[in-house]
Amino acid sequence: MTVLEEYRARHPKSAALWERARAAIPGGITHDIRHLAPFPVYVERAQGTRKWDADGHEYIDYWMGHGALFLGHCHPAVVRAVQEQVARGTHLGACHELEVRWAELVNRLVPCAELTRFTMSGTEATHLAMRVARAFTGRSRIVKLAGHFHGWHDGAAVAVNPPYDVPMSAGIPGATLDQVLICPPNDVKAVEALLERGDVAAVILEPAGGQAGTTPTIPGYLHELRALTARHGVVLIFDEVITGFRYAPGGAQAYFGVTPDLTTLAKIVAGGLPGGALCGARAPMALLAFRGDADWDRSQRVAHAGTFNANPLSAAAAIATLEQCADASLQARANKLGDELRRGLAEAMRRADVPGTCYGEASIYHVSFEGKPGLAGFDRPRRGDAYHLLRCALLNHGVDCSTHHGWVSAVHTEEDVARTLAGYERAFGALAADGVFAGR
Ligand SMILES: Cc1ncc(COP(=O)(O)O)c(C=O)c1O
Repeated sequence: MTVLEEYRARHPKSAALWERARAAIPGGITHDIRHLAPFPVYVERAQGTRKWDADGHEYIDYWMGHGALFLGHCHPAVVRAVQEQVARGTHLGACHELEVRWAELVNRLVPCAELTRFTMSGTEATHLAMRVARAFTGRSRIVKLAGHFHGWHDGAAVAVNPPYDVPMSAGIPGATLDQVLICPPNDVKAVEALLERGDVAAVILEPAGGQAGTTPTIPGYLHELRALTARHGVVLIFDEVITGFRYAPGGAQAYFGVTPDLTTLAKIVAGGLPGGALCGARAPMALLAFRGDADWDRSQRVAHAGTFNANPLSAAAAIATLEQCADASLQARANKLGDELRRGLAEAMRRADVPGTCYGEASIYHVSFEGKPGLAGFDRPRRGDAYHLLRCALLNHGVDCSTHHGWVSAVHTEEDVARTLAGYERAFGALAADGVFAGR
């Protein structure tokens, strides 16, 4: 059987759900990244490092809630905290103590955080960060690095995948895109040339490299960027939606020893429930506060609303999670397993004569058929069909991960890694048998 024949044969209930989904939901999916040809798998439940689909198959999970579940699925402390809170109220329509404790935890753990404001997603956090930076500097342009992802709002949906000069989406006004200046990653001189224009409010980047470290940051770059932005009075924003609390309790800024002005957070910050945050230095963050001066409050303050901001369920899950993440031992454990998995996968690819390699840092791994990207990232689109087929083959063999990377949690085990490597080996074999690597 080919990979896809086996996939279809193993997943009849998912196929049926997909047919219903396509009739009810545009494209059948609710996040572009869940697009999978020929159809996605429908998952019914999850626990620890495992999840089970509608056809009863078990998977070792490296999606881990798009990286949000650093403590794995249904961690007892998180379940308890959420269960207790759900019985006390899911939306109090008021300020509450949990949001205060949550902000205090973020301020204690994240080096740049003097003040924290909660949002409902990473997209909202980067949107707010740009607004704060613009208000703080009185300038309008944002420097964004090619290949870096900051969510889907109009001000960020550009230069995520090559070709970088084609916007990520239709429907974004040209005037909005004009406000974003694109720079190659790892090139401090290119940033400097843009800052010399004098109209740049902020530089935003994923500190460990674009798309969860797909194009890793070179040593020294962040330090140079910090010095350069400070010299030009430009706000430095680290988007730590992925790296926050994962690379270290204080995120990538603690891991690399570079403190930005503002940091955007989501995923782990909300303990696996919906949520995000913007935190940072007191001066820019204070622009969000009412001052009691009617003119200032109306025309100079940064406005921010959101029905579900800091909702108590997310706050409860977040506190239960961040209290455990405060001790660097969980990150050390996940990073060590990440090392083992990356080493094992790179060897498996070599042994099976699969083009490309496995690489990454901390608890994230990337499988690339194109090889590790150069300093400036991938200069051509990846072969999407090969990655789709790999995902299908992996799902046939009990492993689920994102299209080309995976997140190791603090609860994955050596046994999970061994079974994962075996699953990948079988998947690579199935791809080779389908002729995917022929002539490459
Ligand atoms: C670095 C980064 N920033 C922002 C976002 C957007 O976050 P959200 O999906 O919560 O809107 C993501 C999502 O994966 C991300 O990886």
